[in-house]
Amino acid sequence: MKEKLNFYFKRQGAILLLLFYSATSLWAQKITIPIASENHMILLQTDHLNRLRTIYFGKPLQNQSELEAVGATTNYDENNSGIYNSAYTPAGTWNLSEPAIQVKHADGNPSLELKYSSYKKEQIDANTSLTSIVLKDPVYLFEVILCYKVWSKENVIEQWTEIRHKEKKAVLLQKFASANLYFSNKDFYLTSFQGEYLKEMQSIETKLEQGIRTIDSKLGTRAMLLQTPNFMVSFGKPASENQGTVLLGQLAWSGNFKLDFEIDSHKNLRLITGINPFASEYALAPNETFKTPSLIYALSNNGTGEASRNLQNWARKYRVLDGEGERLTLLNNWEATYFDFDENKISGLFKGAKDIGVDMFLLDDGWFGNKYPRNNDDAGLGDWQENKKKLPHGLGYLVKEAKKEGVKFGIWIEPEMVNSRSELYEKHQDWVIRQPERPEIYYRNQMVLDLSNPEVQDFVFGIVDNLFVKNPDLAFIKWDCNAVIYNAYSTYLNKKGLPQSNLYVDYIKGLYKVLERIRTKYPKVPMMLCSGGGGRGEYEFLKYFTEFWPSDDTEPLERIFLQWNYSYFFPSITTDNHVTDWGKQPLKFRVDVASMGKLGFDIVTDHLSEKDKQFCKQAISNYHSFKDIVWHGDQYRLVNPYENEIASLMYVNKDKTRAVVFNYLVNNRFNLTATKRPVLFNGLDSNKMYSVKEINTYPNIDSTLKKDAVFSGDFLMKAGYNPDVNLKRTSVVLEIKEVK
Ligand code: DGJ
Repeated sequence: MKEKLNFYFKRQGAILLLLFYSATSLWAQKITIPIASENHMILLQTDHLNRLRTIYFGKPLQNQSELEAVGATTNYDENNSGIYNSAYTPAGTWNLSEPAIQVKHADGNPSLELKYSSYKKEQIDANTSLTSIVLKDPVYLFEVILCYKVWSKENVIEQWTEIRHKEKKAVLLQKFASANLYFSNKDFYLTSFQGEYLKEMQSIETKLEQGIRTIDSKLGTRAMLLQTPNFMVSFGKPASENQGTVLLGQLAWSGNFKLDFEIDSHKNLRLITGINPFASEYALAPNETFKTPSLIYALSNNGTGEASRNLQNWARKYRVLDGEGERLTLLNNWEATYFDFDENKISGLFKGAKDIGVDMFLLDDGWFGNKYPRNNDDAGLGDWQENKKKLPHGLGYLVKEAKKEGVKFGIWIEPEMVNSRSELYEKHQDWVIRQPERPEIYYRNQMVLDLSNPEVQDFVFGIVDNLFVKNPDLAFIKWDCNAVIYNAYSTYLNKKGLPQSNLYVDYIKGLYKVLERIRTKYPKVPMMLCSGGGGRGEYEFLKYFTEFWPSDDTEPLERIFLQWNYSYFFPSITTDNHVTDWGKQPLKFRVDVASMGKLGFDIVTDHLSEKDKQFCKQAISNYHSFKDIVWHGDQYRLVNPYENEIASLMYVNKDKTRAVVFNYLVNNRFNLTATKRPVLFNGLDSNKMYSVKEINTYPNIDSTLKKDAVFSGDFLMKAGYNPDVNLKRTSVVLEIKEVK
């Protein structure tokens, strides 16, 4: 017995020794992976079981030799339930917290483990690198690649995941996040942006407490209608414009999304974002790669101002179609005519467009459908032939007439949709997303076409292609999307023997395929992304679109708040702002607000008084003189309308020689204090001298500001300038120019 015990202990000792050596040798082989930009660093490190974990998020560490030691500065895992900082958390093995990935293998087994396998960093150019890390399941032929593309100067990261396997049959992906981040800090504040029709991008800031705060969409199309994939995380204190560490993020995906912000039991923040797994188990065939959408985030240690300027610069330079290019100012007929127009009425509006000085006329909804004319929103969608009664000479005639007047011509389409009162529906019910055995459910009287079906993709591509083939001079497309997906069911997937749960994802992938084809054939034609207002607008779409429509709410006071919030994430060149008859604000106020982006008009110019017309002409000509600064310059949010009685926003050109400052009264109460204070400018050169001049004044109303005033940049940024905004001067635009 004693011998047996001796043997037993010796054997156990040998095993322990072996384990110790292998553990220490593993320890010695710890892999530490830095993902670094100019001002930020994320460190990932393998643990003793070769799992990849996030060990650092903060300012870049200077000594490469010290990176490995960072892992030992925290002590998060006394047991498995404490491992929250996994770089991509699998489900079904050791992890009991919210997973980033959950799968059912080809053999039906629901477990996944991911061990570090290799990594590489490619330097794409002096500013851009791509780090890819391969993680593998030790039991199944299943792997994921974590990808981090970093733009160093802008401190912007694009992160996505690629999933593939070599199992015998399809693997069911039940959850497949784009990113699984981990931040350790004392407190976290989350600003999210919710909305509804006419109330898009309303911000809410909350301190995150233990538990999960989820922001998601299950709407299928028009996904941003109620919640948006944009967010802001502020570390340690609420977000502020010029101070503090903040992260501005967005899931660049046009369909259902899910963002989980979890404060774990260490009071750290886990952030898991990706396609919403709701009703979306995805069958992934062997040897195919599932590429998740990207999480895009900008980091700054100097507040939201710097973060969003960086994001805007990045977007213009690297993301948005023709982001550094030009845009067309326009006159749209939607609110001027709605569906009630014909050829004569439309061509009669061209002269007005020319007169006020815009570049283009945009013909909106209502121009198509014959058996079911589009005279209302309950018929015609899907039948993209000119209505013969309204437009007897076709679109070509209008394009030519516009050209004669010296303006370009653009057109509205809503190609993903169908009315049940349409020839398309009569012919192709099988192309419509609908439950065959249930009553149809409509959103704005329409349903969504099934873009998972390649035939439908061809049809949608054909709509755009036909328009351009027949009208090569067509200068612009407004692409609308007014319905959500009800009764999610695809006849096509059914026929193909594919699971219905592929639909939400394959719809969006199908849509991207169509857009890819459009852009291959028509690389530069400007296209506006619209979704019954601001139901869309994110950075995957903006690879294909030059701009987007933030909201049907064009009431200018509301619009200041809305545009303010959009500006955290998007450069002004991408946001289309139209002057309409909404609200009680004077025309000047409306034009000034719409000038903080891509300016358009949706009014009947003939209804304008002579003075109004004169004002518009002058303001549009001023806009043409400063649009380059608004579109391509740096934006500074000076005075926040959410916290003050006025709003001030400033745009400065890159060499700091010119700027334009917009100031508005956003509170009509008597004896306001904010208007007595100066506005502190930003982004100027302290050593340069600048003239400050009010522009966009209404005819015969003189500015109350001192003429020919000249100040140093130092003065304007420290002592500031009072634009004299008050109840009589509710909107003041200032032009700043360097004086030599
Ligand atoms: C919704 C858009 O937001 C409007 O601008 C207009 O194009 C209508 N659709 C047309 O139906």
